[in-house]
Amino acid sequence: MIGRLVVIGLGLIGGSFAKGLRERGLCREVVGVDLDPESRRLAVELGVVDRCEEDLATACQGADVIQLAVPILAMEKLLAELVKLNLGEAILTDVGSAKGNVLRAARLAFADKPVRFVPGHPIAGSEQSGVEAANGQLFRRHKVILTPCELGDDAALQLVSKLWVELGADVECMDVEHHDQVLAATSHLPHLLAFTLVDSLAKRSENLEIFRYAAGGFRDFTRIAGSDPVMWHDIFLANREAVLRTLDVFRGDLDALRDAVDAGDGHQLLGVFTRARVAREHFGKILARRAYVDAMHSNDLVFLANPGGKVSGRIRVPGDKSISHRSIMLGSLAEGVTQVEGFLEGEDALATIQAFRDMGVVIEGPHHGRVTVHGVGLNGLQAPAGPLYMGNSGTSMRLLSGLLSAQSFDTTLTGDASLSKRPMNRVAKPLRAMGAVIETGPEGRPPLTIRGGQRLTGMDYEMPMASAQVKSCLLLAGLYAAGHTSVTEPAPTRDHTERMLQGFGYPVSVEGSTATVEAGHKLTATHIEVPADISSAAFFLVAGSIAQDSELVLEHVGINPTRTGIIDILRLMGGDITLENQREVGGEPVADIRVRSAQLKGIDIPEDLVPLAIDEFPVLFVAASVAEGRTVLRGAEELRVKESDRIQVMADGLLALGAKVEPTPDGIIIEGGALGGGEVWAHGDHRIAMSFSIASLRATAPIRIHDCANVATSFPNFLALSEQVGIRVAVESQA
Ligand code: S3P
Repeated sequence: MIGRLVVIGLGLIGGSFAKGLRERGLCREVVGVDLDPESRRLAVELGVVDRCEEDLATACQGADVIQLAVPILAMEKLLAELVKLNLGEAILTDVGSAKGNVLRAARLAFADKPVRFVPGHPIAGSEQSGVEAANGQLFRRHKVILTPCELGDDAALQLVSKLWVELGADVECMDVEHHDQVLAATSHLPHLLAFTLVDSLAKRSENLEIFRYAAGGFRDFTRIAGSDPVMWHDIFLANREAVLRTLDVFRGDLDALRDAVDAGDGHQLLGVFTRARVAREHFGKILARRAYVDAMHSNDLVFLANPGGKVSGRIRVPGDKSISHRSIMLGSLAEGVTQVEGFLEGEDALATIQAFRDMGVVIEGPHHGRVTVHGVGLNGLQAPAGPLYMGNSGTSMRLLSGLLSAQSFDTTLTGDASLSKRPMNRVAKPLRAMGAVIETGPEGRPPLTIRGGQRLTGMDYEMPMASAQVKSCLLLAGLYAAGHTSVTEPAPTRDHTERMLQGFGYPVSVEGSTATVEAGHKLTATHIEVPADISSAAFFLVAGSIAQDSELVLEHVGINPTRTGIIDILRLMGGDITLENQREVGGEPVADIRVRSAQLKGIDIPEDLVPLAIDEFPVLFVAASVAEGRTVLRGAEELRVKESDRIQVMADGLLALGAKVEPTPDGIIIEGGALGGGEVWAHGDHRIAMSFSIASLRATAPIRIHDCANVATSFPNFLALSEQVGIRVAVESQA
C-alpha cells in the first residue's frame, strides 16, 4: 500500500506499529530508527523492521510515512531535527498520549516550512515496554484517536487512518483539547493513582507486611504502576493543565468520601459504591448509550421459530413492567427505605433505575428481583450530571417528564431510535398548561429538555386519548402543583399510579373517570410485591389457546381489571381460560391463570376493551389469524405510535406468513386460516418479536424473525421460558 515506512523510536508502540504493518505486507520497506543499538539489533532480529538506521537523515530518505514514536518530551527535539531534512511528500504522524504539547512543538518547528502532519494516539499498550514486547496484533479492536489539525491535509488523514484500520484498530477523530481532557481522566489519572498508591505503601515501615498480604484488590488496582516511568513522567509534564483539572475534581470527590467515612455516613458510601458498581459492570453498555441488561444485545438478533409443538407446564413470567417503573419512581420520592420484590430486570425498568441513580437516589439491586430504594423525599432529587437516557422506554420518558417539570434543576431526556420517534406532545402540551417549560425535538419528538425552577399550577385535564402514561405523568406533576390536579380519561386505563400512590400513603381521589391529587402531602416508604406481568403472560395465553392438546398455568399474574382485556377478548373468541387462587397482593389483584387449547373464532373486538388490552394486540392478531372466521379491530389508532407501528408491522409479517389481513387506519381486519413459514421483521419492537415466536405453534414451516434484541426490554428470559413449555424458538444468529 505504501513504499517506505519509517518508524522513529522502537519501543512497544512504535515496534508494534512497524511489525503489524510489515507482517501484513503493507509497506515495501519498513525502516527503524532508535538511539539504542541493542533495540536496533533486536528490531531486525525479531522481524519488527526490514532494516535499522542510526542516522535520521539516512533513514528518512524516500519515506512515504514517518511514524514518530519517541517519548513525548523528546518530540520537540526530534521535530527540530526533522525540519532540517528534505522530507518531500512524506506524511508525519505520531503516537503521543497527550496531543496539545506535540502539536505546539510541531507548529513551532514547522513555522515556515510545509509539512503534512497527522497527530495520533493509539489507546493500546500494556505495562510491558521495549521492542522485545512488540506485537503486530496489539492494536486489534483498540481505539486510535487522530486529532487532525491545519498541518495535515485530507489525503494524509485518510492514509494514516487506513494504516491503523489495517492493523485492526477503530479510528476516531477528536479535537486536540478534548482528547487531552478525556485522556487525563481515563488514563493519566488512574496511572497517577496507581503510582502513588504503590509508592505510598512501599515507603511505610510495615511495607513487607503490606505486600505479603496484598491480595487481588491491590494487585488489580496497581497493575499499571509497572508502566514505564520515563514515559509517564513525560505525559504528566506534557498534559499538565488537563491533568490538574481532573485531579482537582477527583480530590474533591475523595475528600467527600473521606468525610463520609469520618462521619460514619453509610448512606453516602452506599450511594457512591452502588453507582460505581453499576457503572463499572455496564461500561460497554454505557458506551453504546444503551440501557443496562445482560441478555440479548445485538440489534440484528434473529430468532428462529420452528413450527408446531404443544405447550404445557407451570411458569411464572417476569414482573409487571408498569408497576416496576412506578415502584422506583415513587420509592425514590418517598421518605424512608422501600423494598421491592418481583421487580422486572428488563432494560426498560433498568433505565428508570439508572435515571434515579443519576439524580442521586441510592438504589441497591436488582438482585433476583429484589430492589432497595433509599427514598429522598419529594424534594430530594438532585440535578443529574448529563442527559437521562431512557433507552426504549416510553413509560420512563413520559412519567418522568411530569415529575421533572416540577424540579428545581434542568434535565434532558433522550432515548433510542424507536423512542426518538414517539410522540411526546401528549405530555408536553398539558404540562405546559400547568406552567412547565419543555422543549421537544421536531414534531414533538424526543429529546425533551425540561427547565427547572418553574411553579406549576394544578388543572383539570380531559385527556384526548386513553393513556395511562399521560394520566400518570400529570398526576406526578400534580404532586408539586399549586391546588389540585385532576385527569379525566375517555376510557379506563391502567391505574397502577393511583393505587401505588395510595400504597405510599399519598391521598388520591378517584371518582368515575377522574383521578385527582393535590400537593402538600408526602409519600412514606413501603413494601412492594410486583406481580407477574399480564402483558408477558399474554404470549403464553395465546400459545396455550392455539397450540394443540395444551394446558399451561401462569402463576401469580397481576389481574388488575384495567389490564385484563386480553382475557376477555380471548374468552370472547372461545378461549378456555380460568383464574385460580385469586388474591390481593400489595393493593393489586393477582391470580394463577390456567389456559387450555381451544378452537378460537373470529370476533368484532369491542372498542371498550382496546385500552385494557393495548399492549396485547400483536399477539391477539396471531390468535385471530389462526381462528375460524373474521376478526375486526377498530378504535386502536394508538397502536400506530407504540414501539413500532404495530398495525403495519404485524400486517406485513402476517402477510409474509400467508395470512389474510388488511390494515385500516385505526385497526385491522384478519380472516382466520392457516399460517405458513417465512421471514418477518420485528422492527426492534419486543412484542412483535415475541408474537411471531408464538405464531410458530401453528405455522407449517419455520419463521425467521429479525431484529429481536429488544425482547430484553420487557421479557429477558422469554426464550428460556418458551423452551421450558415447549415452544421451539431460539436465537439463530447474532449477525
Ligand atoms: C403504560 C401504559 C400504556 C402501555 C405501556 C405502559 C404504563 O401506554 O402501552 O406499555 O405503564 O403506563 P399508554 O398509556 O400510552 O397507552
